Amino acid sequence: MKIIFKIWRYDPQKDVKPYYQDYQIEVKEGMTILDCLYYIKENIDATLAFRASCRMGICGSCAMFIDKKPRLACETQALALGREVIEIAPLPNYKNIKDLVPDLTPLFEKHKKVNPYIVPDDEEEFLNPTGEYAQTPRELENYLQFAYCIKCGACLAACPTVGTNQEFPGPQALAQTYRYNTDNRDHGEGERKKIVDNPNGVWRCHMAGACAEACPKGVDPALAIQLLKKSFFIAFRKPQARLIPKSNKKPAQGGIKSPEPTI
Ligand code: SF4
Ligand code: FES
Repeated sequence: MKIIFKIWRYDPQKDVKPYYQDYQIEVKEGMTILDCLYYIKENIDATLAFRASCRMGICGSCAMFIDKKPRLACETQALALGREVIEIAPLPNYKNIKDLVPDLTPLFEKHKKVNPYIVPDDEEEFLNPTGEYAQTPRELENYLQFAYCIKCGACLAACPTVGTNQEFPGPQALAQTYRYNTDNRDHGEGERKKIVDNPNGVWRCHMAGACAEACPKGVDPALAIQLLKKSFFIAFRKPQARLIPKSNKKPAQGGIKSPEPTI
């Protein structure tokens, strides 16, 4: 089927303002939007800029505004959209670097701000671990869904609050705040609370729910945000993860050795 791709073009070095450029190509069954963009770049216009890496919904690089919704280009089947004309633009709510490439700096800055890692209660144990922290499957379930975030930025592009308030941490950082607060190996919830429990923080979410709809990985940041709000009202108690000393560890079966610690 022949499809016209209406693609946002903008080169800040030569364009006064963005414009749409049309490219018509033959799209075959199975071609993703990313395949179509590569086809255009390799056969029609090498100047087209977009970002992609894994081509399998894991790296989060290829999020863009496809047919007026934030989606991963590598996971969106072109024919499944059922359009003769498909409009593609960079993610909104970010600065546009060039063509389909957004500047994701605010996403990563906000993410870094909430300490997105396990904060130990014992610095010495953190630096020189004497064992592993065991979690039950139930304890893992508490945060697993939110750990699937690939930092694609689609949720911030969909969020009306992010569009109007630069101070708001946004759905991604707030979901990760909840993810780490809920992990029973972590002791960083006090510090994270100071960062997000304020009028421009978690309380600024108006529950539009657009982030949950946009997320390609089923993270549901809107749910995490509501659970985070609730955790600030109800005393947050989590059982401590058990430290299994190295000496008690059963040897790996089949001669497979566990890797050396990376910290
Ligand atoms: S929460 Fe979902 S939409 Fe937001 S950055 Fe993570 S994977 Fe992307
Ligand atoms: S190219 Fe990695 S998520 Fe699409």
